[in-house]
Amino acid sequence: MKLCIKVIIGDHSRLSLVLALFLLFAGHALAEPRDAETIVARNCVSCHTSGAGGAPRIEHEADWSALFDRFSSDEVVTNAYEGRGRMPARGFCNDCSLDDIARAIEVMLPEAYKGQVRPDQ
Ligand code: HEC
Repeated sequence: MKLCIKVIIGDHSRLSLVLALFLLFAGHALAEPRDAETIVARNCVSCHTSGAGGAPRIEHEADWSALFDRFSSDEVVTNAYEGRGRMPARGFCNDCSLDDIARAIEVMLPEAYKGQVRPDQ
């Protein structure tokens, strides 16, 4: 019986160690600046490749030119961050900062508009 308890406790402390290490690495990963391409691939391509629901298509000049006719660069970033119409806030990247979103938009812009979007600091 004693041995049995010892084995259980022993296993748990090993498990806690694994968990602690995992959290340490996960925390570290979250603290890293996010790679804009990764954000786009994970959170934005699903809608912005097809243009579903009127989403400006990635690198599609006419779509973005129509958007910039209506909104300033700052507004475009804020709209994506806060959500507008059928654009969900942050594209469901809930822990993305305004800067992360601005950099993600930069990746999606057509050549003619690269550099148009600046993070609102
Ligand atoms: C569920 C689908 C969906 C996802 C996911 C999504 N978008 Fe959108 N997005 C839309 C739609 C639809 C619009 C057009 C909104 C409208 O006109 O009502 C839009 C509009 C935008 C706009 C223009 C803002 C404006 O004022 O209309 C930007 C910029 C944008 N999205 C960026 C992003 C970024 C960056 C991501 C990923 C982090 C993302 N979107 C993820 C659907 C999506």
